Amino acid sequence: MPEDHAADIQLVTRAGEEQARPYGLPLAVLAEITHRCPLQCPYCSNPLAMEPAANELSTADWLRVIDELADLGVLQIHFSGGEPTARRDLVQMVSRATEVGLYTNLITSAVGLTRDKLSALADAGLCHVQISVQGAEPALADRVGGYKGGHARKLEAARWTRELDLPLTVNAVMHRQNLLQLPQIIDMAVEMGASRLEVANVQYYGWALKNRRALMPSPAQVEACTATVEAARARLHGVMEIDYVIPDYYAERPKQCMGGWGRQFFNISPSGKVLPCHAAETITGLDFDSVRDRTLAWIWDNSPALNAYRGTAWMPEPCRSCEWKEADFGGCRCQAFALTGSAGNTDPACARSPLHARVFALAESEAEADHTRFIYRNLSGGTEEAGPA
Ligand code: FES
Repeated sequence: MPEDHAADIQLVTRAGEEQARPYGLPLAVLAEITHRCPLQCPYCSNPLAMEPAANELSTADWLRVIDELADLGVLQIHFSGGEPTARRDLVQMVSRATEVGLYTNLITSAVGLTRDKLSALADAGLCHVQISVQGAEPALADRVGGYKGGHARKLEAARWTRELDLPLTVNAVMHRQNLLQLPQIIDMAVEMGASRLEVANVQYYGWALKNRRALMPSPAQVEACTATVEAARARLHGVMEIDYVIPDYYAERPKQCMGGWGRQFFNISPSGKVLPCHAAETITGLDFDSVRDRTLAWIWDNSPALNAYRGTAWMPEPCRSCEWKEADFGGCRCQAFALTGSAGNTDPACARSPLHARVFALAESEAEADHTRFIYRNLSGGTEEAGPA
């Protein structure tokens, strides 16, 4: 075990058995149960090579994995995708997760939801619903999502969510083409009955990287967005919490991505691969273990891919001697890979990276060029939007 993890050992008691976990306990899992999705968002974080339905884990596999999650000490399971309601066995999975004591969250586009399905999920013990929105009104929202009528269905699903007394988070992914609607999106989230709004500027990996020039905001837009969020936070104190993520390219310090690689969180892909984050498969050269071949406990403790960037021993300069290294864990490995070709380099989102100024300038020039046409994400490999650039 690397030296810097020696202090992290936690003792876990399961059925009277005491076991040392060299890398501590994971708190949450993102279960990407399918890559299928009726929406085609150009900023999707799914990898460019998506899993076909035939490669997805079976119901029996997922139920076993859910049992193993509880045994491992995981507290939360976030059912995601793609669109998780595309799986017919979702209610069964939520029910099993409830039985074994996991907090359950449904991360959904909501366009495939019916009231009956949501009610069955609530009966199965679902704890929380998160609905994504693409804009404040149908014309823009449906264009971004590539799904006509989607916006209206989301508003309806939000109404059912609150009628069933489930807490609601609205997730608004922001970019150059919808930032102008942020004030209206904030008002809409309040009307939807959300207790939390995530104002998440696009992060550029997976499909989002492919669409970066159509999505990148200008520095002036980011500044206006920050001011709008700050004013709304003050105005809506006690009504709705607002989480805010700025675009990495304009940041000074890198984000603590996923709470640190392989530290508190992991992702299970539709085919069962255990990843440190949703975008890790974009990094070539890492071999991710699958729950089809190994137990989750073995993978968490031993996976060479999870171990690759755990802790601080792997870090190059300037991270190695940086006073923030235990706070941000070097930022985002997927972004480092996407922008420098090596996941082991300093994340260029950090102002101390030699590439930071170049990345900032690239973002500015892409925003200025104002290319608007999306390449929609879909299982057929992507479809370019018609019309002028
Ligand atoms: Fe993979 Fe940040 S998204 S480490």
